[in-house]
Amino acid sequence: MKKYHIPTAAYENFDDPGKALAYLETAKMPVVLKADGLALGKGVLICNTLEEAQEGVRTIMEDKKFGEAGNRMVIEEFMTGREVSVLSFVDGRTIRIMSSAQDHKRAQDGDQGLNTGGMGTFSPSPFYTEEVDAFCRQHIYQATVDAMAAEGRPFKGVIFFGLMLTQDGPRVLEYNARFGDPEAQVVLPRMKNDMIEVVEACIDGTLDQIDLQFEDNAAVCVVLASQGYPVSYEKGFAIAGLERFEDVPGYYCFHAGTKQTPEGIVTNGGRVLGITAKGTDLKEARANAYRATEWVSFDNKYMRSDIGKAIDEA
Ligand code: GLY
Repeated sequence: MKKYHIPTAAYENFDDPGKALAYLETAKMPVVLKADGLALGKGVLICNTLEEAQEGVRTIMEDKKFGEAGNRMVIEEFMTGREVSVLSFVDGRTIRIMSSAQDHKRAQDGDQGLNTGGMGTFSPSPFYTEEVDAFCRQHIYQATVDAMAAEGRPFKGVIFFGLMLTQDGPRVLEYNARFGDPEAQVVLPRMKNDMIEVVEACIDGTLDQIDLQFEDNAAVCVVLASQGYPVSYEKGFAIAGLERFEDVPGYYCFHAGTKQTPEGIVTNGGRVLGITAKGTDLKEARANAYRATEWVSFDNKYMRSDIGKAIDEA
């Protein structure tokens, strides 16, 4: 991203603790310190003050708290803002952007509790305005595809742009080379195109001939999880009510952690089902989705009750 001027968090690499400490004197707090190697997911420190950051550099590079991973480190700007997910199809050259979505990653209402794979989504995001879209089209989307090609690795498939809408404009938080889950559950039901045609166009390099279109409505997905997710939970409970979704347009029940047994379909994971409903706007879609969550029952059923509530603040 740095090489191709794609907006992301400002960062610098260091292999000398003295230079890292000198850099901190000029850095805006808070900062993120990352040991530049495998540290079993632990080598990241968020530091609010200069003193904390100096201590962090010593911990990583001098005390080697995370082992050899601390031989090099990254000091990165701490970004704040609203997160938006934007999925796209890419054929190596052309990129077609799907409608935006927003995930709720924490396990409990009010964004409390542990991080999860995603407890629910809504699409489109009211925070992904035309202005934000224009900026991303100009500085992020095509620039990413062109950069991949320039590096000799033309990308074909789905790119998931994890964006943060900061006060200084949109920034890339992360890329994933896949659909988002549960973002896809609210984006794809609103797509008007035939999926197979779009995928074939990605393979054939003819995506420029595809006019990707989305319905002028909204969708909300509420994840039905097992109580205790993401830490520990029981599995194997019978799921009732799945047939309620048959032949009901605009309502979808996506299976995530389920298993077919001779006795019927049972829970088999932390996130069990994704219940999606469409509506003319986000408020209606939210009401529809929550109504549909009542159609399904299983022991240990758990869900957040505030998916899409951010809509009211928009
Ligand atoms: N929902 C976030 C992800 O799929 O990575």
